[in-house]
Amino acid sequence: MNGSSSSQSPPHASPQVLHFPLPRESLLGRLPVRRSPMPLRLQPDMPVPLRPPLKVCSPDVCSQNLNPFRKIASSVLDFVEDAVLSPFEKTRDLPKTVDPVFQLAGNFSPVQECPVQHRLEVVGQIPHCLRGGAYLRNGANPLFPPSSRGHHLFDGDGMIHAVTFGSQGQASYCCRYTRTSRLEQEAALGRPVFPKPIGELHGRYGFARLGLFMARTSIGLVDDSHGAGTANAGLVYFNGRLLAMSEDDLPYHVKVDADGDLKTIGRFDFDKQLDRQMIAHPKVDPATGDLHALSYDVLRKPYLKYFRFNRHGQRTCQLDISLELPTMIHDFAITEDHVIIPDHQVVFRLSEMIRGGSPVIFDQTKTSRFMILPKDMHDQSAIQRIDVPDCFCFHLWNAWEEKDERGNTVVINILGSCMDPPGSIFNEYDQNGSAPRIELTKIRINLRSGQVERRPLAQGLNLEAGQVDRKFLGRETRYVYLAIAEPWPKCRGIAKVDLLTGEVTEFSYGRGSYGGEPCYINATCEGSPSSDCGDYLVSYVRDEGREESELVIVRASDMQQVGLVRLPARVPYGFHGIFLRPEELRNQVVCC
Ligand SMILES: [Fe+2]
Repeated sequence: MNGSSSSQSPPHASPQVLHFPLPRESLLGRLPVRRSPMPLRLQPDMPVPLRPPLKVCSPDVCSQNLNPFRKIASSVLDFVEDAVLSPFEKTRDLPKTVDPVFQLAGNFSPVQECPVQHRLEVVGQIPHCLRGGAYLRNGANPLFPPSSRGHHLFDGDGMIHAVTFGSQGQASYCCRYTRTSRLEQEAALGRPVFPKPIGELHGRYGFARLGLFMARTSIGLVDDSHGAGTANAGLVYFNGRLLAMSEDDLPYHVKVDADGDLKTIGRFDFDKQLDRQMIAHPKVDPATGDLHALSYDVLRKPYLKYFRFNRHGQRTCQLDISLELPTMIHDFAITEDHVIIPDHQVVFRLSEMIRGGSPVIFDQTKTSRFMILPKDMHDQSAIQRIDVPDCFCFHLWNAWEEKDERGNTVVINILGSCMDPPGSIFNEYDQNGSAPRIELTKIRINLRSGQVERRPLAQGLNLEAGQVDRKFLGRETRYVYLAIAEPWPKCRGIAKVDLLTGEVTEFSYGRGSYGGEPCYINATCEGSPSSDCGDYLVSYVRDEGREESELVIVRASDMQQVGLVRLPARVPYGFHGIFLRPEELRNQVVCC
């Protein structure tokens, strides 16, 4: 799952969701009423009206200067889509996993861009150690909400929501699309033309959509040579660049301006050192500054590549990794000396499309395993592959080693959220609509004996979308902070899990309020430390009853709320976030 993504309808969310701003009383006191922009309504049989066209930034999008032949061909293809394909698509029953009525219900529905809004209302205090920094969170926000076509929440265009904190405790907010090649072209055309890989590519309709896309590409109406990704899932700061990522493309470089606005600099190939897609969860080793990353391919071998860049952005390792099947590898982990890669049972099988299904399937004939790679390896002969049957961790929060007296690694500990049934994000396995079980789990692998122990933690809670202190990524950490993904797919609060004692401390957003991934901030005050220096958690929260969005700030030590920022517009539920410290904002690369 990316953040609080949906595979099913929120149990209490009607497809006919209205958003009327109402007075509300804040958790920390009564506050003035603010009005939010009128959000999208989404109803089962009503095509969603297009919102105002997005201004196209790139001058070289190819749709503007078509010759007469191409204009005719373009019109013919539009007619085929509108008069032939779309009516047929309307006749089919979509599973909830790709039905936009459910995938974009309520606060999962998209919003428009919001320019920077300054001097937001702050209740309580912005801790000093957060001041001068910025919290950014990625998410999927389709520019063209679908009507008859299949749509999965993961298919939406990437939009980043940013709150910047001023030096005097002020707060600003904005949200901007990441200007991907895909988004720019669709905005220029005024219609969606790129296939949605999860929601659309099902059965013969999926083939038809692919055919339309290939036809538009062949006449030069669409250019896929600059990627087709959405950049909607993850965020990482590396070597002076904030990168927005989905796993189907290169990252996009986004800059946070001095006034808190966001500007897409462009698609980033690490100075021509990366020529294929990168997953959305690269890892920055806090000790070395190296960035570790993966790239998987659903069509061509090698299905998986590992690569590493040093802190200066130079590629220092690239390795092909053999896999029997093209496998979805959304996340992985690093330790001090190893890279830990899951090789689970959610795989890509295009032949499933012929039978009318999704190409993303749960393969019960495959044995789930973890691959353990020494960081100093030169070829894949050093990889240990350890079977861990019936294990599916969409996300891994951390991993660390236990060593013998000679410093050799004996045990690898992996901390992840295990989902059952696997792949339930992508396909319906339970016709009754039951939520998947997502259990925080510690997996202990003995590299010498191959023995595996699995220990569920915080039992009884569905825990997903979380973070540890990234300053200690790859090393044993005592606490992990996770979204309580209940009622699925919403998140009702944050759980702080003490891995030493097993104690779980919950922070609740309150009745009718839901958030997403908590972003853990271990910040230090610049200059003289303040009494409120410490560890904090932030998350966007939506009070669904009162129709208001806030950024809540929770002190991690005792899980008490210390402040909130009232936001001027609705912030949809989303995926992964990051906090940029003042020096990281200042040190952003100015030009590429
Ligand atoms: Fe993710």
